[in-house]
Amino acid sequence: MIFNTLITTLLFALFTLTHAREVPANVREFYDKVKGGECPVAVAKGFSQGAYSGESNYCVDKDHTVMWITTPSGLADMDIDCDGANQGYGKCANDPTGQGMTSFVGDVVKHGLSDLDSNTHSFVVLGNHGFDPQSLGIKPLSLVAVICGGQLFYAIWGDSNATDKVGEASISLANACFGDSMTGNSGHNQHDVLYLAFPGEDADASKTCNWGAKSFAEFEDSLGPLGDKLVAGIHA
Ligand SMILES: *[C@@H]1O[C@H](CO)[C@@H](O)[C@H](O)[C@H]1NC(C)=O
Repeated sequence: MIFNTLITTLLFALFTLTHAREVPANVREFYDKVKGGECPVAVAKGFSQGAYSGESNYCVDKDHTVMWITTPSGLADMDIDCDGANQGYGKCANDPTGQGMTSFVGDVVKHGLSDLDSNTHSFVVLGNHGFDPQSLGIKPLSLVAVICGGQLFYAIWGDSNATDKVGEASISLANACFGDSMTGNSGHNQHDVLYLAFPGEDADASKTCNWGAKSFAEFEDSLGPLGDKLVAGIHA
Protein backbone atom coordinates (compact mmCIF):
# COMPACT_ATOMS: atom_id res chain seq x y z
CA MET A 1 0.00 0.00 0.00
CA ILE A 2 2.68 2.43 1.08
CA PHE A 3 4.74 1.31 -1.87
CA ASN A 4 1.84 1.99 -4.24
CA THR A 5 1.37 5.45 -2.79
CA LEU A 6 5.05 6.11 -3.21
CA ILE A 7 4.97 5.00 -6.83
CA THR A 8 1.90 7.14 -7.51
CA THR A 9 3.58 10.13 -5.91
CA LEU A 10 6.75 9.58 -7.89
CA LEU A 11 4.84 9.15 -11.14
CA PHE A 12 2.86 12.26 -10.42
CA ALA A 13 6.00 14.24 -9.67
CA LEU A 14 7.58 12.94 -12.85
CA PHE A 15 4.48 13.83 -14.86
CA THR A 16 4.45 17.31 -13.38
CA LEU A 17 8.16 17.79 -13.94
CA THR A 18 7.90 16.64 -17.50
CA HIS A 19 5.06 18.87 -18.47
CA ALA A 20 5.40 22.04 -16.44
CA ARG A 21 7.02 24.83 -18.34
CA GLU A 22 9.63 26.98 -16.73
CA VAL A 23 8.35 30.52 -16.25
CA PRO A 24 10.39 32.76 -18.59
CA ALA A 25 12.17 35.70 -16.96
CA ASN A 26 9.93 38.34 -18.56
CA VAL A 27 6.80 36.55 -17.33
CA ARG A 28 8.26 36.14 -13.84
CA GLU A 29 8.96 39.86 -13.73
CA PHE A 30 5.42 40.60 -14.82
CA TYR A 31 4.06 38.19 -12.19
CA ASP A 32 6.13 39.82 -9.45
CA LYS A 33 4.92 43.24 -10.49
CA VAL A 34 1.21 42.41 -10.42
CA LYS A 35 1.00 39.72 -7.73
CA GLY A 36 0.05 42.31 -5.09
CA GLY A 37 -3.06 43.33 -7.02
CA GLU A 38 -1.74 46.05 -9.31
CA CYS A 39 -4.39 46.81 -11.93
CA PRO A 40 -3.33 49.44 -14.52
CA VAL A 41 -6.75 49.58 -16.21
CA ALA A 42 -9.79 47.90 -14.65
CA VAL A 43 -11.97 46.91 -17.59
CA ALA A 44 -14.64 45.27 -15.46
CA LYS A 45 -15.12 45.45 -11.70
CA GLY A 46 -17.02 43.92 -8.83
CA PHE A 47 -16.58 40.18 -9.25
CA SER A 48 -16.20 37.63 -6.50
CA GLN A 49 -13.77 34.91 -5.47
CA GLY A 50 -13.02 33.36 -2.13
CA ALA A 51 -12.70 36.04 0.51
CA TYR A 52 -13.06 38.83 -2.04
CA SER A 53 -16.75 39.20 -2.58
CA GLY A 54 -17.48 41.94 -5.10
CA GLU A 55 -13.86 43.10 -5.09
CA SER A 56 -12.26 41.18 -7.96
CA ASN A 57 -11.52 42.94 -11.22
CA TYR A 58 -10.53 42.14 -14.78
CA CYS A 59 -7.45 44.23 -15.61
CA VAL A 60 -5.44 45.08 -18.69
CA ASP A 61 -2.08 46.76 -19.15
CA LYS A 62 -2.20 50.28 -20.50
CA ASP A 63 -1.65 49.11 -24.08
CA HIS A 64 -4.42 46.50 -23.77
CA THR A 65 -2.14 43.64 -24.82
CA VAL A 66 -3.04 41.26 -22.02
CA MET A 67 -5.90 40.73 -19.54
CA TRP A 68 -5.85 39.15 -16.07
CA ILE A 69 -7.86 38.90 -12.84
CA THR A 70 -6.95 40.64 -9.57
CA THR A 71 -8.15 41.13 -6.03
CA PRO A 72 -7.28 44.26 -4.00
CA SER A 73 -4.16 42.53 -2.69
CA GLY A 74 -3.50 39.62 -5.02
CA LEU A 75 -4.43 37.65 -8.09
CA ALA A 76 -6.98 34.88 -8.68
CA ASP A 77 -7.67 31.58 -6.99
CA MET A 78 -8.45 28.35 -8.82
CA ASP A 79 -11.81 26.71 -8.38
CA ILE A 80 -12.64 23.69 -10.49
CA ASP A 81 -14.88 23.69 -13.55
CA CYS A 82 -16.03 20.17 -14.42
CA ASP A 83 -18.53 21.21 -17.07
CA GLY A 84 -18.62 19.65 -20.51
CA ALA A 85 -18.00 16.10 -21.73
CA ASN A 86 -17.59 13.23 -19.20
CA GLN A 87 -18.71 15.62 -16.53
CA GLY A 88 -18.69 13.33 -13.51
CA TYR A 89 -15.54 11.44 -14.44
CA GLY A 90 -12.40 10.93 -12.33
CA LYS A 91 -11.70 13.73 -9.91
CA CYS A 92 -14.86 15.47 -11.07
CA ALA A 93 -17.06 12.76 -9.52
CA ASN A 94 -17.76 14.93 -6.46
CA ASP A 95 -18.43 18.16 -8.39
CA PRO A 96 -21.46 19.82 -6.81
CA THR A 97 -22.15 22.41 -9.52
CA GLY A 98 -21.61 20.74 -12.87
CA GLN A 99 -23.49 21.92 -15.91
CA GLY A 100 -23.92 20.00 -19.12
CA MET A 101 -22.06 22.22 -21.51
CA THR A 102 -19.22 24.68 -21.78
CA SER A 103 -19.84 28.11 -23.31
CA PHE A 104 -18.23 27.55 -26.71
CA VAL A 105 -19.47 24.01 -27.34
CA GLY A 106 -20.82 25.30 -30.66
CA ASP A 107 -17.24 26.00 -31.80
CA VAL A 108 -15.78 22.89 -30.16
CA VAL A 109 -18.08 20.49 -32.03
CA LYS A 110 -16.69 21.78 -35.32
CA HIS A 111 -13.44 20.04 -34.38
CA GLY A 112 -15.11 16.65 -33.98
CA LEU A 113 -15.60 16.63 -30.20
CA SER A 114 -18.89 16.58 -28.29
CA ASP A 115 -17.54 19.25 -25.89
CA LEU A 116 -14.41 20.15 -23.93
CA ASP A 117 -13.48 17.52 -21.36
CA SER A 118 -12.27 18.91 -18.05
CA ASN A 119 -10.18 15.78 -17.45
CA THR A 120 -8.28 16.24 -20.73
CA HIS A 121 -8.42 19.84 -21.87
CA SER A 122 -6.44 22.57 -20.22
CA PHE A 123 -9.03 25.33 -20.00
CA VAL A 124 -9.86 28.44 -18.01
CA VAL A 125 -13.14 30.21 -17.21
CA LEU A 126 -13.26 33.90 -18.10
CA GLY A 127 -16.23 36.21 -18.48
CA ASN A 128 -19.28 36.61 -16.30
CA HIS A 129 -22.71 38.03 -16.11
CA GLY A 130 -22.08 41.64 -17.13
CA PHE A 131 -18.68 41.15 -18.76
CA ASP A 132 -17.72 39.35 -21.96
CA PRO A 133 -13.97 39.35 -22.74
CA GLN A 134 -14.94 39.32 -26.42
CA SER A 135 -15.67 43.02 -25.91
CA LEU A 136 -11.86 43.41 -25.63
CA GLY A 137 -11.25 41.36 -28.76
CA ILE A 138 -10.44 38.14 -26.89
CA LYS A 139 -11.65 35.23 -29.01
CA PRO A 140 -13.34 32.11 -27.66
CA LEU A 141 -10.88 29.18 -27.44
CA SER A 142 -7.93 31.55 -27.53
CA LEU A 143 -4.76 30.92 -25.58
CA VAL A 144 -4.51 31.65 -21.85
CA ALA A 145 -1.13 31.42 -20.10
CA VAL A 146 -1.49 30.29 -16.49
CA ILE A 147 1.14 30.86 -13.80
CA CYS A 148 0.28 28.59 -10.90
CA GLY A 149 2.39 27.03 -8.20
CA GLY A 150 5.50 28.65 -9.63
CA GLN A 151 5.01 26.95 -13.01
CA LEU A 152 3.67 27.96 -16.39
CA PHE A 153 0.98 26.04 -18.25
CA TYR A 154 -0.94 26.89 -21.38
CA ALA A 155 -4.70 26.63 -21.58
CA ILE A 156 -7.55 27.86 -23.72
CA TRP A 157 -10.46 30.11 -22.84
CA GLY A 158 -13.07 27.38 -22.65
CA ASP A 159 -15.96 28.52 -20.49
CA SER A 160 -17.60 31.49 -18.79
CA ASN A 161 -19.55 31.98 -15.60
CA ALA A 162 -23.15 33.11 -15.55
CA THR A 163 -22.76 34.69 -12.09
CA ASP A 164 -20.10 37.05 -10.67
CA LYS A 165 -17.62 34.30 -9.75
CA VAL A 166 -14.04 34.43 -11.14
CA GLY A 167 -11.00 32.14 -10.83
CA GLU A 168 -11.90 28.73 -12.30
CA ALA A 169 -10.08 26.15 -14.39
CA SER A 170 -10.48 22.60 -15.67
CA ILE A 171 -9.62 19.76 -13.27
CA SER A 172 -6.76 18.56 -15.47
CA LEU A 173 -5.10 21.96 -15.31
CA ALA A 174 -5.71 22.26 -11.55
CA ASN A 175 -4.09 18.84 -10.99
CA ALA A 176 -1.09 19.88 -13.07
CA CYS A 177 -0.76 23.13 -11.11
CA PHE A 178 -1.44 21.99 -7.57
CA GLY A 179 -1.37 18.22 -7.52
CA ASP A 180 -3.71 15.38 -6.77
CA SER A 181 -5.65 16.97 -3.93
CA MET A 182 -7.61 19.16 -6.36
CA THR A 183 -11.06 17.70 -7.07
CA GLY A 184 -14.41 18.85 -8.44
CA ASN A 185 -15.26 20.02 -4.96
CA SER A 186 -11.93 21.33 -3.73
CA GLY A 187 -9.76 23.91 -5.45
CA HIS A 188 -6.85 26.20 -4.66
CA ASN A 189 -7.87 29.03 -2.35
CA GLN A 190 -4.80 31.29 -2.30
CA HIS A 191 -5.05 34.31 -4.58
CA ASP A 192 -1.76 33.73 -6.36
CA VAL A 193 -2.77 32.43 -9.79
CA LEU A 194 -2.17 34.59 -12.85
CA TYR A 195 -4.42 33.93 -15.86
CA LEU A 196 -3.15 35.86 -18.90
CA ALA A 197 -5.52 36.21 -21.86
CA PHE A 198 -4.57 37.81 -25.15
CA PRO A 199 -6.79 39.81 -27.49
CA GLY A 200 -6.74 39.28 -31.23
CA GLU A 201 -7.10 36.67 -33.94
CA ASP A 202 -3.46 35.64 -33.49
CA ALA A 203 -4.22 34.23 -30.05
CA ASP A 204 -6.90 31.86 -31.38
CA ALA A 205 -5.62 28.46 -30.24
CA SER A 206 -8.41 26.49 -31.89
CA LYS A 207 -6.57 26.46 -35.21
CA THR A 208 -3.37 24.89 -33.92
CA CYS A 209 -4.21 22.88 -30.80
CA ASN A 210 -4.46 19.08 -30.93
CA TRP A 211 -8.20 18.41 -30.81
CA GLY A 212 -7.48 14.69 -30.99
CA ALA A 213 -5.44 14.77 -27.76
CA LYS A 214 -6.26 11.96 -25.34
CA SER A 215 -4.51 13.40 -22.29
CA PHE A 216 -3.86 16.72 -20.60
CA ALA A 217 -0.16 16.46 -21.45
CA GLU A 218 -0.86 15.89 -25.13
CA PHE A 219 -3.31 18.77 -25.33
CA GLU A 220 -1.19 21.17 -23.29
CA ASP A 221 1.91 20.31 -25.33
CA SER A 222 0.09 21.29 -28.51
CA LEU A 223 -0.42 24.81 -27.13
CA GLY A 224 3.32 25.29 -26.71
CA PRO A 225 4.35 27.04 -29.92
CA LEU A 226 1.52 29.59 -29.80
CA GLY A 227 1.86 30.12 -26.05
CA ASP A 228 5.62 30.67 -26.25
CA LYS A 229 5.10 33.25 -28.99
CA LEU A 230 2.45 35.15 -27.02
CA VAL A 231 4.20 35.22 -23.64
CA ALA A 232 7.40 36.43 -25.31
CA GLY A 233 5.60 39.74 -25.83
CA ILE A 234 4.86 40.30 -22.14
CA HIS A 235 6.70 43.14 -20.41
CA ALA A 236 6.59 44.12 -16.77
C1 LIG B 1 -20.14 29.88 -11.75
O1 LIG B 1 -20.45 30.33 -10.48
C2 LIG B 1 -21.44 29.62 -9.78
C3 LIG B 1 -21.73 30.32 -8.47
O2 LIG B 1 -20.65 30.39 -7.66
C4 LIG B 1 -21.02 28.17 -9.64
O3 LIG B 1 -21.97 27.44 -8.96
C5 LIG B 1 -20.71 27.60 -11.00
O4 LIG B 1 -20.27 26.28 -10.89
C6 LIG B 1 -19.67 28.44 -11.66
N1 LIG B 1 -19.05 27.87 -12.85
C7 LIG B 1 -19.49 27.89 -14.10
C8 LIG B 1 -18.54 27.36 -15.10
O5 LIG B 1 -20.55 28.33 -14.45
